[in-house]
Amino acid sequence: MKKYLVIGNPIEHSLSPLLHNYWMKKYCLSGSIYEKRKIEEKDLENVVKEIKDDKIIGVNVTVPFKRLIIPFLDKLDSTAMKTESVNTLFKVKNKVIGYNTDREGFAQSMRDLFPELNDSMIPAMQGKNIFILGAGGVTSSIIDALQHEGAKIFLSNRTKKKAEELKKKYGEVEILDWGKRPSTCDIVINTTSIGLTKDEKINIDFSDCSGDKHKLFYDLIYNPKETSFLKEARLRGNNTMNGQRMFLNQAICAFNLWTNVTPEVDDEVIKLLDK
Ligand code: ATR
Repeated sequence: MKKYLVIGNPIEHSLSPLLHNYWMKKYCLSGSIYEKRKIEEKDLENVVKEIKDDKIIGVNVTVPFKRLIIPFLDKLDSTAMKTESVNTLFKVKNKVIGYNTDREGFAQSMRDLFPELNDSMIPAMQGKNIFILGAGGVTSSIIDALQHEGAKIFLSNRTKKKAEELKKKYGEVEILDWGKRPSTCDIVINTTSIGLTKDEKINIDFSDCSGDKHKLFYDLIYNPKETSFLKEARLRGNNTMNGQRMFLNQAICAFNLWTNVTPEVDDEVIKLLDK
């Protein structure tokens, strides 16, 4: 049996097993199974050892281990190195490599939403004010994808020091105290874990955006499908998107790395995730 895993804490919300097991069945990888495992930081080293020993073939990494896993790995791909964020593990030539498929998953989600962008996001992002909430393990992937697009990026995190570290790396990012917001924003992206637990709220007032369907509120969380952040935006009449597209796109890249198959997002996949 070839075993795959998603590791995190919390992990209950992860739909990765549902998705990958569906694809494994569809593409006749019947000797494969994908499970979720709730771990503590002290368990990271052992997960990497299990990959080295071929007990596990591939791993997805989620909250809050995307950065913490790095010291235990033999090598990083170029995106993981730049963003210092890893969401996929795989052994190649006896080395456990950390990959970042979040950045491409996010970039592709923007292309999915704005089909006119094709390979470039520039026409839509140029001159836009983008407000990013959070500075956790996934945030660097989002900034990295947006940075070259001519957008003005504002960043706010409860722990300001983490936002300042990202600014050191990415330069042209304006930091705001937690609870504050830029006077105008075209796109607001929630990269925090607020909302994973139902009814958790982000206390920032966006009421002046009411009725503007050109403003996009994007929550990287995909389960629950509609966080309070997105519900409030929908009720205000704004454009909203949850993390499902990014989730699917990063999963396609990970599945392809592990199996060499590029899986399809068919109606059945959407039905599974929408249950
Ligand atoms: P991941 O590695 O997946 O990004 P993480 O590093 O734990 O997970 O990041 C979680 C993010 O959500 C952080 O930006 C965190 O803010 P802090 O850096 O201040 O911890 C943010 N977050 C989580 N719970 C929060 C809360 N109740 N209020 C404000 N921010 C919160």
